[in-house]
Amino acid sequence: MPIRQFQAQRMHAPRDFQSIQPTPICVEIGAGKGKHALLFTAQHPEFQLIAVERTREKFVAMQKQHQIEGQQNLSPVHADAIPWVVHALHPAQVQHFFILYPNPEPHNPAQRWLNMPFFEFLLSRLQPGGQITLASNIPEYIEEAQQQLIDVWKLPFVKEKIAATSARTHFEIKYLERGELCQQLIITKPADYVTRFDDFQPLQGQNPVKEQAE
Ligand SMILES: C[S@@+](CC[C@H](N)C(=O)[O-])C[C@H]1O[C@@H](n2cnc3c(N)ncnc32)[C@H](O)[C@@H]1O
Repeated sequence: MPIRQFQAQRMHAPRDFQSIQPTPICVEIGAGKGKHALLFTAQHPEFQLIAVERTREKFVAMQKQHQIEGQQNLSPVHADAIPWVVHALHPAQVQHFFILYPNPEPHNPAQRWLNMPFFEFLLSRLQPGGQITLASNIPEYIEEAQQQLIDVWKLPFVKEKIAATSARTHFEIKYLERGELCQQLIITKPADYVTRFDDFQPLQGQNPVKEQAE
């Protein structure tokens, strides 16, 4: 089924929005309590990571642990990632997106990341050659995403089984301890990939102008 076009210009700015510099960055969406974000930035001081989490308690837990560990290359953000991406990110700015164990949305398949019109916008923010890591413990979620990559997004990817010893996130630890199969897709944006948002500049906190009735 074709996916309708994302209405980026209609996105309201997240509360307390702060703009970011147009330098290369990595972005984690749905970072939870920040275990992966803290590990990644400690292990890769050469990368800047912005870790976005919508749920306040989880964001606060990430922020507290970040204050203890003090990574200079990590910026936790409390926001819904969809409007935040539209307002903050520049075209082709992102080296790597991490989406680790997203909500499976069992009753709302249209809300899964690769089924959303927003995914095209996300792709426009990725550098040529940039990657998206999408991990899940639900084989059907991975299979559906894989099919969307083939049918709709026409993007190359590799599928990997996550080692039983991996411990990148709280959810990953829980699922692997239960003996569940955890998998990830590593998606790459080809150099010649085109989206309808490639020239769309970040809204930088501006809200859409309401259309006046004549
Ligand atoms: C199943 S949890 C996984 C958390 C973490 N990645 C992990 O593996 O432990 C999914 C997380 O995504 C967050 N989330 C879902 N939709 C989001 C959105 N649109 N923007 C930001 N965070 C979102 C939820 O609040 C939740 O913390």
